[in-house]
Amino acid sequence: MLDSVQTTERVGEILLAHKGMEGALLPILHAIQEEFGHVPQEALPIIARDLNLSRAEVHGVMSFYHDFREAPAGQHVLKLCRAEACKAVGADALATHARGALGIDWHETTKDGKVTLEPVFCLGLCACGPAALVDGKLVGRVDAAKLDRLVGELK
Ligand code: FES
Repeated sequence: MLDSVQTTERVGEILLAHKGMEGALLPILHAIQEEFGHVPQEALPIIARDLNLSRAEVHGVMSFYHDFREAPAGQHVLKLCRAEACKAVGADALATHARGALGIDWHETTKDGKVTLEPVFCLGLCACGPAALVDGKLVGRVDAAKLDRLVGELK
């Protein structure tokens, strides 16, 4: 875990690496999230100053795009598709099962810090739903038993 001086320094380096880039805000936010696992609050005024934006503008962009986190995720991130094709093959029941099995709701992390559960709206795996993304890896045809297995492997 970096302290706030190290965080500020690292954010400064990321800003420098994007100097002069047109429309740099999104790439900067991606790079910061890549580095820290989330976008630390203290990074926002530094980004705003560097790009000559208001802090509210930076915050607005961050909260509009669901991929940016304000707080660190758990060790693993399990995303379940909530979109139409997956719904047609049982995504709702799977989601209820997942929330029960993990004991958490959407956007929450299990108490042991292992798994964060997030909804996602289509993963392009519509013919093999219900679809999931486990730490960035696509998994198709997820039923309750498969989900239990996946979660068991993560714990
Ligand atoms: S609807 Fe679930 S992957 Fe497309």
